Amino acid sequence: MRTVTPDNITEVFQSYFGPDTDPRFREVIGSLATHLHAFTREVGLTHDEWRKALEALEWAAKITTPERNEFVLLSDVMGLSSLVDMINSRQGATSSSVLGPFHVSDAPPMEIGDDMRGDFDDEVLLVEGQVRDADGNPVPGAEIDIWQTAPNGLYSSQDPDQDIMSFHGLMTADENGRYAFTTVRPVSYTVPTDGPVGEILNAAGRHPWRPSHLHFIVKAQGFRDLVTEVFPADDPYLDQDTVFGVRSDLVMTYKPQPAGSFPDGFALSGKVDGPFARVDFDFTLVRN
Ligand code: BEZ
Ligand code: FE
Repeated sequence: MRTVTPDNITEVFQSYFGPDTDPRFREVIGSLATHLHAFTREVGLTHDEWRKALEALEWAAKITTPERNEFVLLSDVMGLSSLVDMINSRQGATSSSVLGPFHVSDAPPMEIGDDMRGDFDDEVLLVEGQVRDADGNPVPGAEIDIWQTAPNGLYSSQDPDQDIMSFHGLMTADENGRYAFTTVRPVSYTVPTDGPVGEILNAAGRHPWRPSHLHFIVKAQGFRDLVTEVFPADDPYLDQDTVFGVRSDLVMTYKPQPAGSFPDGFALSGKVDGPFARVDFDFTLVRN
């Protein structure tokens, strides 16, 4: 096609694919171009707007490091990460939710009943539950990778005052699939706003807050890995998570407990003198 017009450019684009192109690549990129062209026509994108978008991507590239990926954050606040997550989730499993950028590899092993608080002192939270399969049977020995913010709202990789492994731990569930640990109650926090994503949120009149949450990756032989988060029902940002990560089955009540009222069945390594809160959260894994 020699003459390209606004009406035929999408068709021309499709005709440029080579005969040996991988069919899935062709489907995905062809559809992406189709939607980008339609979007451009629909909003009548100006040169100035197009240039600003490219400048935002250039800025994102400049500030992206292994510890902070502005492109992932852009995908998160646009709802793309959560949408990919939801359309690929498996029925019968606990809902998955965003991984976020603060997971670390090789988290330190924790025994069941261990404490994550380190030197931090705040409201104590006892987290316990069971890993089960879709029929309700326990999954013995499941591996549970756990991470969260410190009470100052920072993950260890954001905070020079914390050891990189602070509030990170790897627990192996017992023969009944059970796990338990004590920690401090995580707090609501803002996603980073000093880059192009912050400017987009600001221009859209959106806040950068996430409701407080505990992060988990649960793995067991023969089962699909589960990446998820657990949120307290009373968090003020529950209905407006800036990265769209909340699912109803991930919202739990953190129940206040009087001092000394620990459940039987496991020993706690950390000292808990006063009242504390407790959350019981069970994970359901589905087979591969
Ligand atoms: C997080 O939960 O750690 C997170 C998720 C998405 C963007 C920023 C942080
Ligand atoms: Fe988080």
